[in-house]
Amino acid sequence: MSGPLTGIVLGSGLGVLAEVVEIHREVAFGEAGLPAAAVPGHAGKFVFGTLGGSPVVLMQGRLHLYEGHSPQQVAAGVRWLARQGVERLVLTNAAGTLNPHFAPGAWMMLADHLNLTAASPLQGAEFIDLTSAYDPQWRAAFRAAAMVQGMTLHEGVYAGLRGPQYETPAEIRMLRTLGADAVGMSTVLETIQARALGLRVAAFSCLTNWAAGMSPAALDHHEVLAAGRQAAQAMVRLLGNGLRESDAPAGSS
Ligand code: HPA
Repeated sequence: MSGPLTGIVLGSGLGVLAEVVEIHREVAFGEAGLPAAAVPGHAGKFVFGTLGGSPVVLMQGRLHLYEGHSPQQVAAGVRWLARQGVERLVLTNAAGTLNPHFAPGAWMMLADHLNLTAASPLQGAEFIDLTSAYDPQWRAAFRAAAMVQGMTLHEGVYAGLRGPQYETPAEIRMLRTLGADAVGMSTVLETIQARALGLRVAAFSCLTNWAAGMSPAALDHHEVLAAGRQAAQAMVRLLGNGLRESDAPAGSS
């Protein structure tokens, strides 16, 4: 086991990632001082272990604004991970795709985000820089790992909204005009918190469905969960390979 400790936040339907981790220890959200997560598909615990030889802490289940949690509570898991010694953070989520070239079933690595929650986890004056919120070097490592394993990995802009309702077709047209490629209800506040603590961040959207109005089908939470489970296998491999790849000291890869 080698390399920096990596935190991995698992989104809707991605709990299967926990099945390939060699588990050393589990901590329930309650023991960590977090409210128990309540959404179907979110278990509510931290799992310490190794993934492909790299030390990881999984955050299985997360807290959302739409459950009534404050922005500070939504980001509490990230602060807890940082206190455990986590130096870099992988965020995963389920998202709708707005980009006609990014079909559902594939993954999108976040190049940037639009925080449309009108909220921030930072209290007081923290004028942090978000120019490279999603670490360019780490993204390059994941891009290379995806190519080696023959995995489709898109890159684009994630729009984070409060939810919990899915968007209207008019809202999706607005988001496309704003430059979004994917839309979801998480991740952006966690990224902001992680950057404020100096963690390196990478994030991945599992594109589970066409966003509203992009296809005739209506949106269904259970289909979102099922699509996440289907696509999780490719992400398991990418994380195993990508973490190892980027374990190498800067400049040597
Ligand atoms: N919109 C918002 N959040 C989502 C979607 C969507 O279409 N799919 C999965 N999470």
